[in-house]
Amino acid sequence: MSHKVFISQEQISNRVKELARTIDQDFSGEEIVVIGVLNGAFMFVADLIREIKSPIILDFIAASSYEGTESTGNLKILKDIKVDIKDKNVILVEDIVDTGLTIKELQKDLKDRGPKSLKLCSLLHKPARTIHENKIDYLGFEIEDKFVIGYGLDFDGKYRELPYIGVYGES
Ligand code: IMP
Ligand code: MG
Repeated sequence: MSHKVFISQEQISNRVKELARTIDQDFSGEEIVVIGVLNGAFMFVADLIREIKSPIILDFIAASSYEGTESTGNLKILKDIKVDIKDKNVILVEDIVDTGLTIKELQKDLKDRGPKSLKLCSLLHKPARTIHENKIDYLGFEIEDKFVIGYGLDFDGKYRELPYIGVYGES
């Protein structure tokens, strides 16, 4: 099944390069612990770290706060990071900030572990859906309130493999 392209491969790739450049400027060669939020951020984080020139330690965290297309309002850590982030520069990388709950809870949890700095990078943000405010330090694209798929994002586990971002239901 194909979907109408909402954000193309080329647009994503250009934006990823810009974000990486900004990150490199901000950290000026210091080591960064990059934490990708599974599963949605796997493709974004893979592309992003290949563009960042600063030394990187990569880890992943998995949390669940979602069912179908509506947030349940619960967060469970399903898979934790292995790396000790105390006194480290950390960037948490998410696919999309929707209501903001997942990332708010995750940031709280990580902050308690005493990182030197903790920044948030998200490929997408739907401001119309915000319930929990978060400062997104590095944002790919602000989008309207549409359910998007592809480039890591799924609907019921499907379409993560698409190399672009499409809108679910629009073909
Ligand atoms: P939040 O806690 O409401 O911000 O939910 C964030 C999570 O919901 C993201 O990490 C995604 O996994 C999922 N999500 C929210 N909106 C979409 C969407 O449009 N497409 C696919 N997944 C989404
Ligand atoms: Mg996610």
